[in-house]
Amino acid sequence: MSKQANTPKSLDTLFIKTYGCQMNEYDSTRMADMMKEAYGLRLVAAPADADVILMNTCSIREKSEEKVYSELGRYKKLKDKRPDMIIGVGGCVGQQEGERIQQRAPYVDIVFGPQTYHRLPEMVKEIRRDRVCLTEVDMPEIEKFDHLPKAKSHGFVDCVTIMEGCDKFCTFCVVPYTRGPELSRPVADILEECTQLLAGDALEISLLGQNVNAYRGIGPDGDEWDFTMLLYAVAELEGLKRLRFSTSHPMEMTSELCVAFGEIPQLMPYLHLPVQSGSDQILKAMHRGHDREHYFRIIDELRQHCPDLALSSDFIVGYPGETDADFEATLDLIRRVGYDTAYCFKYSPRPGTPAGKSADDVPTEVKDARLQQLFTLMREQTRSAMESSVGKTVDVLVEKNSRDEGDMQGRTSDFKIVHFKGNPRQIGQIMPVRITEAYGQSLRGELVLTGE
Ligand code: 5AD
Ligand code: SF4
Repeated sequence: MSKQANTPKSLDTLFIKTYGCQMNEYDSTRMADMMKEAYGLRLVAAPADADVILMNTCSIREKSEEKVYSELGRYKKLKDKRPDMIIGVGGCVGQQEGERIQQRAPYVDIVFGPQTYHRLPEMVKEIRRDRVCLTEVDMPEIEKFDHLPKAKSHGFVDCVTIMEGCDKFCTFCVVPYTRGPELSRPVADILEECTQLLAGDALEISLLGQNVNAYRGIGPDGDEWDFTMLLYAVAELEGLKRLRFSTSHPMEMTSELCVAFGEIPQLMPYLHLPVQSGSDQILKAMHRGHDREHYFRIIDELRQHCPDLALSSDFIVGYPGETDADFEATLDLIRRVGYDTAYCFKYSPRPGTPAGKSADDVPTEVKDARLQQLFTLMREQTRSAMESSVGKTVDVLVEKNSRDEGDMQGRTSDFKIVHFKGNPRQIGQIMPVRITEAYGQSLRGELVLTGE
């Protein structure tokens, strides 16, 4: 599709709008690094100030496509005034919708998927040269990481993608279609990226993947390494104080990984292990590959090695065919496990998924009522998890000034937010804090002075 010619002005500024998961956050950071290296683009906080606007989208739940189109409508008004502006739509909606985006919004210059964003500088060059619209949504082997600039530490907590994609095909989920099959990066590349981050400001590293514990990458010895082997290797890196990972699948929780929670001192006692439902019928219908007893056994094994492990999970209410009894089984599972936090969602049919073909037969009012019940139960559980910390002295990685004057904010190793009276000089340090008070979602404490 060609466009009218006019001389392109120089590109100076970039705005990225990110939706969705931590991996999208990571991808947006890498896009910004790459566009800085290629074009010297500087990130700006408002789309009106940008020469290039990129949307990094998410299609996991309902209305995501509509959200993208309505945001694009706002960008169109900016582009009408400044036709040289470049607009790109990336991420999972880009992957899913492909050329349909430019059919509906012809002012969009680039559509790209999660596996092709490393080609952005090249695509921008082509657009400026040939004035064409481009769609790049193929899924090449994991070549992307070979083309990205070297990772830079962006703070004390940094993320590293170790694998992408998903082969599990849960019936409700678009991820296997938008992110593609499970592909793991080589161990040496991951260790190198972590080492670079640790040479900067990083103290804590979060290993990312749609199914991190399905990691199977080539080791430096030429053998295939699993996730637990990788964890032990990352933990050995100099300067690493804390290590965590997300997201894990129950079917990939090996005994070795449970043992690692007791053995690796840097591994934070926090695990996000989504179960989605507590009903055996629904777990089966979702193709999760395990029943509730299997999940309970994993939790028991984990707690055997790490008694203070904080757990979180994702839950879906109103999956097709979910009865009151199924939902009760979910409440029962939550009571038996005891979570620190949970992310609870109403089921929404997604295009192209097997469940999307069945009738979405749980009425909206029922979904709403179940969601409220989950929220109520989870509020109680979060509160009691917070209260159990009161009186303890915990290590806090100080991340920033808190909103209240004179207060600092950081996280415990089990990922709870703590506020305390402190000093901005403490940012980037791990300090002992005695917890004095628990709130609904966070803690308050006071610094323990170590007598220097
Ligand atoms: N409807 C509702 N929630 C969903 N999730 C994924 N797909 C859907 C859907 N179609 C939730 C799951 C998953 C989390 C990232 O999003 O709970 O773990
Ligand atoms: Fe989606 Fe299931 Fe894969 Fe998670 S494991 S990304 S829910 S298909």
